[in-house]
Amino acid sequence: MIGKKWLEQGFIDEPIPERTDVKAEIRRMCKEKNALIMAHYYTEGVIQELADFVGDSLALAQKAATTEADIIVMCGVHFMGETNKILCPEKTILVPDLNASCSLAESCPADEFEKFVKAHPNHTVVSYVNTTAATKAVTDVVVTSSNAKQIVESLPKETPIIFGPDRNLGHYISEQTGREMLLWDGACEVHDRFSVEKIQQLKREHPAAKVLAHPECPPTILCLADKVGSTSALLKYSVENDAQEFIVVTESGILVEMQRLAPQKTFIPAPPNDSDSPCNECEYMKYITLRKLYNCLKYEWPAIEVEPEMAKKAVKSIHRMLDISNRLGL
Ligand code: 13P
Ligand code: SF4
Repeated sequence: MIGKKWLEQGFIDEPIPERTDVKAEIRRMCKEKNALIMAHYYTEGVIQELADFVGDSLALAQKAATTEADIIVMCGVHFMGETNKILCPEKTILVPDLNASCSLAESCPADEFEKFVKAHPNHTVVSYVNTTAATKAVTDVVVTSSNAKQIVESLPKETPIIFGPDRNLGHYISEQTGREMLLWDGACEVHDRFSVEKIQQLKREHPAAKVLAHPECPPTILCLADKVGSTSALLKYSVENDAQEFIVVTESGILVEMQRLAPQKTFIPAPPNDSDSPCNECEYMKYITLRKLYNCLKYEWPAIEVEPEMAKKAVKSIHRMLDISNRLGL
């Protein structure tokens, strides 16, 4: 029985009994319940270390579509849990804190997006995976930052395109593909708050460093980058490139995996423009703590539910993305 307080707050923060080996207990519960812990690269290091699978948005969706686990604990934000539930309606999908929202998904209310879509008939609707299930339900094909370019290129040349909700990613993909697209005016509050001046200052301090940037950043930031790509593309570049220093212009959680895979290299997080913090963090990803993860597995709550009719519509756009990605070997 889930208490009223927990239902209201959207997570369980019950203290963990003293002398519990928390990590061992989480692993034990996973085995007992046939549960898989997945984590996005932007979560805390301790969560990434415990997870069975760590990935970017595309890899997480691909893993959810193929896992044989009965329970998926999605350590990430709400839309990631929803995507998993839409793909695996028979599984229990847990997200340790229901408040782990996403500013980009929030910037695209489904009813307003639907009006925009209806006002532009005959357009193919391409939506970033960072959207709610309701927005995906009015979408033709979902994309992530790993496959957006290839999926847009796969659409017939004469097809007019609506791209939502990230105006920065949309602008970047439009430049890369030469396709004109109607852009929804949304943004990620994390990637939208990097500072040109602070990155230029870091470049002066580290002249040999390569700049890595995520395409959710505005064009003024992307033009400073040596490599633009999804979190997994930036990770791959940082490991394979000969440079020894990298200025990382995305959410700073990715530095955990960069440092793990290339311990001899130096990774410098790019700071936000509106505080003295050296790191730019997504507050929603950091809602996922070890204590919430422990309680969520113990009580199997909070579980994500998606209204079945909506899920039936939304799943088509996600399957279309996965099919094209599989075909292209992405
Ligand atoms: P990717 O994981 O596709 O790089 O997206 C980054 C992001 O902002 C996830 O919320
Ligand atoms: Fe959403 Fe931005 Fe956080 Fe990703 S980093 S979850 S896009 S708010």
